[in-house]
Amino acid sequence: MSPATMPDVSDCWSTWLSVGRFRGATADDRRAMNLRLLRVRRRILRAACLFPGARVLDAGCGDGFLAAEAGKMVGPTGLVAGLDISAASLANAERLVAPSPEHASITWHRGSVTRIPFPDASFDAVVERSVLMYVQEKWAAVAEYSRVLRTGGRYPYSSRSTREGG
Ligand SMILES: C[S@@+](CC[C@H](N)C(=O)[O-])C[C@H]1O[C@@H](n2cnc3c(N)ncnc32)[C@H](O)[C@@H]1O
Repeated sequence: MSPATMPDVSDCWSTWLSVGRFRGATADDRRAMNLRLLRVRRRILRAACLFPGARVLDAGCGDGFLAAEAGKMVGPTGLVAGLDISAASLANAERLVAPSPEHASITWHRGSVTRIPFPDASFDAVVERSVLMYVQEKWAAVAEYSRVLRTGGRYPYSSRSTREGG
């Protein structure tokens, strides 16, 4: 399916990520939530064994914070691509993630994890947070992750066990 004809299932997600999950939260709750999410992101990226210059795909990047953190870790010689099915989330990511000469450049792409718009062996690592659990064709997505990873590339899978668990 081409991005132009993709159904816009997305935009419940962009609203949830930018507004819904913080609804009713105090400033302290929000800070605590952001800190917890940052810890989760760093744990995922540590498991991906990133190195300076690595090429990383953030699959289902949402508003782009995992991609941004990966961009810091791989530095200016690295490359990060954020992929999401949601046009609105990608627009948020572009707005929220500021480019920096000290970090990898990040490109944003609309598409499905079940049909990743990159050639074979494009990446040293595929990372994701809270995506596969929402994808119906999980094996198609995992096959795509495997296809776009180079031999020996990393895909650390993490899944929440509870709604609160990151
Ligand atoms: C719970 S959000 C997580 C977003 C982001 N990974 C994060 O850590 O905040 C799930 C994301 O997966 C995206 N998504 C769902 N199905 C997808 C698919 N088939 N292909 C690409 N992205 C998808 C949604 O648009 C949403 O941004």
